[in-house]
Amino acid sequence: MSFDIDTYRRISAKLDVDDIDFGAFRDRPLPPEALRCLRYMHDVENHTVCYLRDILVTRAHRDPEITSFLTFWNYEEHWHGEAIAKVLAAHGEPAGAGRIATLRQRLPKRDAWRPLAFQLASAVTPHLTAVHMTWGAVNEWTTQAGYARLAQRADHPVLSDLLRRIMKQEGRHIDFYASQAKGRLSESRAAQRLTRRALRRFWAPVGSGVMPDEEVRFLSTYLFGGEDGLGVAERIDRRVDRLPGLDGLGLMRGAVATAA
Ligand SMILES: [Fe+2]
Ligand SMILES: [Fe+2]
Repeated sequence: MSFDIDTYRRISAKLDVDDIDFGAFRDRPLPPEALRCLRYMHDVENHTVCYLRDILVTRAHRDPEITSFLTFWNYEEHWHGEAIAKVLAAHGEPAGAGRIATLRQRLPKRDAWRPLAFQLASAVTPHLTAVHMTWGAVNEWTTQAGYARLAQRADHPVLSDLLRRIMKQEGRHIDFYASQAKGRLSESRAAQRLTRRALRRFWAPVGSGVMPDEEVRFLSTYLFGGEDGLGVAERIDRRVDRLPGLDGLGLMRGAVATAA
């Protein structure tokens, strides 16, 4: 696997937003559609620690490279949420701890069973880590692409600057998950079969199950609908195609079609 965890440990950092002029949004606010995307992104970035909870109960926690990565990954994602909270706050929108507490209160009851489900699945198959790492790669690809599309659609210099900084860190998350997925899938046909089946059966855009369905639909069509958006979605599908045993799933194309 080509990802260098020592380099990542050294360069991983809290997102630097000290020189971002959040006050500029008061003079030139974002359009309502962009704010709706940012509310979603704020909530999902802040939900990272809950995804971490689900991974750590599996045998993935036995791999020190994975646990090192997850430590810094969670820290970086936390600050992505904080940065987006500042944009929402500049528009007079609720953000941060209050908004996160409300979101966690309204999580469906089945959320409480997720750690148990993952723990049981991990006891049954040694390949759940391959599923998790591949899932992570797909979600980091879609997240980075989503930020790029939002910057393009909102066309606001301050937002674009902020999203560019976030996307740079998302790129390192992609490198980790994709290299883990590639390594684990190439080692085992059983891992390929399980991952393929899991993605086909359960994968939905990041934030599904946490955010209301209409918000998932809105984000999918606003960012990945239309000619430009679909081109980006298909590029992600082609990246998934290149992972061992995962060609032809068409996850993003399917998600956009379902949302439309
Ligand atoms: Fe992030
Ligand atoms: Fe990320």
